[in-house]
This record gives sequence, C-alpha cells and structure tokens, in this order.
Amino acid sequence: MDLGLENKHVFLTGASGGIGIETAKMFLQEGAKITLQYHSNPDALQPLLKEFPNRTYAVRADVRSEDAIINSITKSVEKLGPIHILVANHGIWITEETNIVDMDLKQWEETLRVDLTGVFLYCREVLRQAKKFSISDLSIVIIGSTAGIFGEAGHSDYASAKSALTYGFLRSLKNELPRVSKNGRVNIVAPGWVLTPMAEKALEDKTLFKRVLQTIPLKKVAKPADVASAILFLSSSKAAGHVSGEIFEVTGGMEGRLLYTDNEVG
Ligand SMILES: NC(=O)c1ccc[n+]([C@@H]2O[C@H](COP(=O)([O-])OP(=O)(O)OC[C@H]3O[C@@H](n4cnc5c(N)ncnc54)[C@H](OP(=O)(O)O)[C@@H]3O)[C@@H](O)[C@H]2O)c1
Repeated sequence: MDLGLENKHVFLTGASGGIGIETAKMFLQEGAKITLQYHSNPDALQPLLKEFPNRTYAVRADVRSEDAIINSITKSVEKLGPIHILVANHGIWITEETNIVDMDLKQWEETLRVDLTGVFLYCREVLRQAKKFSISDLSIVIIGSTAGIFGEAGHSDYASAKSALTYGFLRSLKNELPRVSKNGRVNIVAPGWVLTPMAEKALEDKTLFKRVLQTIPLKKVAKPADVASAILFLSSSKAAGHVSGEIFEVTGGMEGRLLYTDNEVG
C-alpha cells in the first residue's frame, strides 16, 4: 500500500534509540525526508546519514531544554523545509524499580521533564511552524506505553508521564489540532515490551522475562519494527486520514500484568 509519505518531512525524536532507528529506516524506505533528533548517541545515526545523505538531517537536542527544542525545530525547517509529521518518540525509563514510598523528587521530576514536558514542547513548536507554513494535514504520533494504561509498580514516574500523554494530552490536542491545521491529527502508539536498549537490561532477568511472557497471549515481546509499522500507518494522511485521538496498542494482546511471582502467592 502506498502510504503517500514520499517527500513528506518527518521530525523524529529519540531517533538514535531502538524504536527510533527502525522507524527512521521505514520512513526513508517510503521516500520521506527525516530530521533525526538525538541526545547522546550520534553514532547510531551514521549508517542512515551515509545511506540517505539528501533526505536526512541529524540534530542534537536535550529535551530538558526549551531552547534546545526550539533551535532543533528551527534548524530542521531551514534544512529540510516545513514539517508535516512529528513522531514524539524519545523517552527514559529508569531500569531500577523504585516504589513511591522510596522515590525521591529528583527522579520524579526528571522523568516527567523528559517524557511529558519534552513531548508537550515538541508538539507546541511543531504546531507553531504548521501555523506559520499553513500545513493543512499535520500528523503527530506520540509514543506512549502500556505503563500509561495499566500503571507500572516500581515505575510510577514513567507510568504517570505516559498516562498524562495518553489521556489528558492526547484528547485535548486532538480537539485543538484542526484549529491550527485543518486536517491535523494526533494518535498514540502504546507498545508493551519491546526489545530495545531501554528494555534489554531488565529482560536479561530470566524470571522477569518469563513473567512478562505470562501476560502476553502471543507469548513474545515486540521487535522495534512492529512498533515502527504502526507509527508509519498512523502518520500517513493517506492511510489514516480519518483517525485521530486513538490509542493504538502494540502489545501482542497484553491486557494487564501479573503482580506476583509464583513464590509470592501462597
Ligand atoms: N522498549 C520498550 O519496551 C518500550 C515499551 C513501551 C514504550 N516504549 C517507548 O518507546 C519510546 C522509544 O523507546 P526505545 O525503547 O527505543 O528506547 P531507547 O532505545 O532507550 O531510546 C530512547 C531515545 O530517547 C532519547 N533520549 C533520552 N533522553 C533524552 C533527552 N534528555 N533528550 C533528548 N532525547 C533523549 C535517546 O537519545 P540518545 O540515545 O541519543 O541519548 C534515545 O534516542 C520511548 O518513548 C519509550 O518510553 C518503549
């Protein structure tokens, strides 16, 4: 199916991460131009920059800085033209489990700053440029998580940020977007477990891995490409032009989590 993505300019945050790289590859295969935002790992982007020198632009931005976000959008537009698609994919998830009773304010604020405020700022800046350049079909895809739907014990900071994006933010933005961009849409892709650097360390724990599989009907975790193809579908005005405000789960059918190991239940 032709997704109509040729020559569209995609701004992808967290492009240097596991889901980011795979998503960038798929957009490039569809003929899109892409700005690849990274924070600390430019090396991950080198193969794509070499293979597609005319349709890629890499920009560093720490999403904890409002100025860095604004500058990255300005440079991206200068380099590849007005942005048609934003994929807000960056994120942090602290591997170590910390219950609320033990969580310090620093961790809480850091996670919300990156995972929630960073997405708000990127959406705001992309809306402003869509207004400036009269983009009529701005498409935004935000990467949420099942943690934002079910909660995640030991990771309340992350679950809260993702929940805020998935419910309050998504549903407000979908109603505001057409006032800025006539056919503008926003959707959430909510993965369960995905094999990327973010989750690999936790999944090395065989007990946890088994417990994870016990919650998934398909008995497997996702590959980054499973998530990337959902992102491409929703980003396409041709394929998903009447889809807005949806939460698209990529979970293998997971609908909740086991809370206790075999030994913890009498
Ligand atoms: N993996 C999973 O199991 C899973 C499950 C559900 C949802 N998700 C979500 O999927 C998205 C992508 O995750 P992933 O698995 O691909 O993770 P990943 O491989 O750890 O990649 C995370 C990305 O976020 C960027 N990033 C982190 N802190 C940043 C900051 N302060 N400023 C700017 N960028 C920053 C990283 O940039 P650098 O590497 O350049 O520093 C990297 O590109 C995230 O939103 C995550 O919450 C993942």
